[in-house]
Amino acid sequence: MIHENVEQARKQGGGCPSQESREDKQKQQEQMIKDSLSRIKNKLVVLSGKGGVGKSSVSVNLAVCLANKGFKTGLMDVDLHGPSIGHMLGMNELLDMSESHKLLPKKVTDNLTAVSIQGLMQDRDQAVIWRGPAKTGMIQQFVGSVDWGDLDFLIIDAPPGTGDEPISVAQTINDAKGVIVTTPQEVALADIRKSISFCRTVKMEIMGIVENMSSFICPHCNEPVDLFKTGGGKTTAEKMGINFLGDIPFDTEVVRSGDAGEPLMLNKSDSRFAEAFNRIVDNLTSRL
Ligand SMILES: Nc1ncnc2c1ncn2[C@@H]1O[C@H](COP(=O)(O)OP(=O)(O)OP(=O)(O)O)[C@@H](O)[C@H]1O
Ligand SMILES: [Mg+2]
Ligand SMILES: [Zn+2]
Repeated sequence: MIHENVEQARKQGGGCPSQESREDKQKQQEQMIKDSLSRIKNKLVVLSGKGGVGKSSVSVNLAVCLANKGFKTGLMDVDLHGPSIGHMLGMNELLDMSESHKLLPKKVTDNLTAVSIQGLMQDRDQAVIWRGPAKTGMIQQFVGSVDWGDLDFLIIDAPPGTGDEPISVAQTINDAKGVIVTTPQEVALADIRKSISFCRTVKMEIMGIVENMSSFICPHCNEPVDLFKTGGGKTTAEKMGINFLGDIPFDTEVVRSGDAGEPLMLNKSDSRFAEAFNRIVDNLTSRL
């Protein structure tokens, strides 16, 4: 059913032949989204003003960390462009369907399940040619189609920037709260301001800012080395009146583990990287 609809949406570029059936479909879809999200206590959207700052890495490791602490956690990406969650968790197959035609998330650990929007695509390159309205339809359909069951947390890896795609995500999951990821080099006030103003425009509450790749963990002695001026995230958060959730060191293992499909938090729970995530999760949960 999904594949058919996706195919149709793609051909039509998001348009639809009859007004009436479009409204019916829209209502049906809104109900599906509501049903699917109503059993999830906390929805967190991981955002950034810019690409490549580590949203997907933060989303995956945050989800693993929450699950390790005993929270029932779901993880999803809605980034139609880069391979992210699926790749980082080594999930390459298409998703399974339940009998009621809902998508079944993959079990990662006892408390963690995940879906990637790429699990819907037979052809990974096809997303690139979709136009705006078809993408929005795809995102809505995807969110409404997953059978999560009861969850304490849903972590959503959003597309980068402040364009149509992150807006669709924010509007579809309308009680989601934002976690803004930045790096020390680009803690230019302007960039965080962009993310903050995005959240305000779509009326999304901001949980706080995370500074990723803050210091470098030396692979020889395991001590942190400041490559860039760190602490910019914290200063900027304070200036903007936003909560600072914590910083995450640059760890060479992150790249390797991401490529190997096994997030670092799954294996190295005693590292500085893991400590950083534990702190961020404690900050988050104490605020919720
Ligand atoms: N703390 C970290 N230490 C080391 N490498 C990291 C860290 N965080 C992210 N990376 C690496 O940086 C690259 C970009 O990270 P990631 O894909 O998570 O960013 P993104 O914001 O999701 O990017 P995009 O905008 O393309 O979706 C990846 O190769 C990832 O392994
Ligand atoms: Mg990403
Ligand atoms: Zn060293």
